[in-house]
Amino acid sequence: MGRSTVLVSPSILSADFLHLADEIRSVEAAGADWHHVDVMDGHFVPNLTFGLPVIRQIKSVATKPLDVHIMVDNPDQVAASYVDSGSDWLTFHIEASKDPVALARLIRAKGAKAGISLRPATPLETLAAVLPYVDLVLIMSVNPGFGGQTFMADAPERIAKIAAMAESAGVRSQIKISVDGGINPATAALVRDRGVDVLVAGTSVYGAKDRRQAIAALKNQ
Ligand code: DX5
Ligand code: ZN
Repeated sequence: MGRSTVLVSPSILSADFLHLADEIRSVEAAGADWHHVDVMDGHFVPNLTFGLPVIRQIKSVATKPLDVHIMVDNPDQVAASYVDSGSDWLTFHIEASKDPVALARLIRAKGAKAGISLRPATPLETLAAVLPYVDLVLIMSVNPGFGGQTFMADAPERIAKIAAMAESAGVRSQIKISVDGGINPATAALVRDRGVDVLVAGTSVYGAKDRRQAIAALKNQ
């Protein structure tokens, strides 16, 4: 049996913030599986986006899971609030957490799926201890902070490596591998058969004239 079709999680960062409810309904109608919600605090990354009140309002409109990516320098302090505000998947950065295992366990204990991410320059080995406690690994194919950046060519290798690490740790079947940054039909083709389960895409979906066609192209359908 072939690999199951990848999930597509359009990043709201590239949506029209002045019409967010319509944008959320639009990508759901176009076949989005999740909504990728980029929380940036202006410290962990130079950009600042939105926080809890906006997450709550997005939750009230969305019918698909919220795949929340917190790029903040204090995830240990704020993660619980992001789960309470509606995150179905909550992904934090290993560079920012003082105790990633404890934080992953807290997120799960509060009923959400726990995700871990890391900057492109951070060695994948830093994830080894936390892999048994997460449901998702988010491989960044751009430096976090902005949409519309260019896909970094070493991302497919990093995806294959984290898939192998998960396999040898005996947890591959319980982890979704997601890739985030510069994902379009051409770069999606580079990662689809390296073990990726989820494609995060902002510009290539929200910036498309035909969003249904854009999502289908990412799924190679
Ligand atoms: C970048 C964010 C990404 C970004 C993806 O820090 O984590 O999710 O929104 O946007 P594109 O697909 O335009 O690179
Ligand atoms: Zn993201």
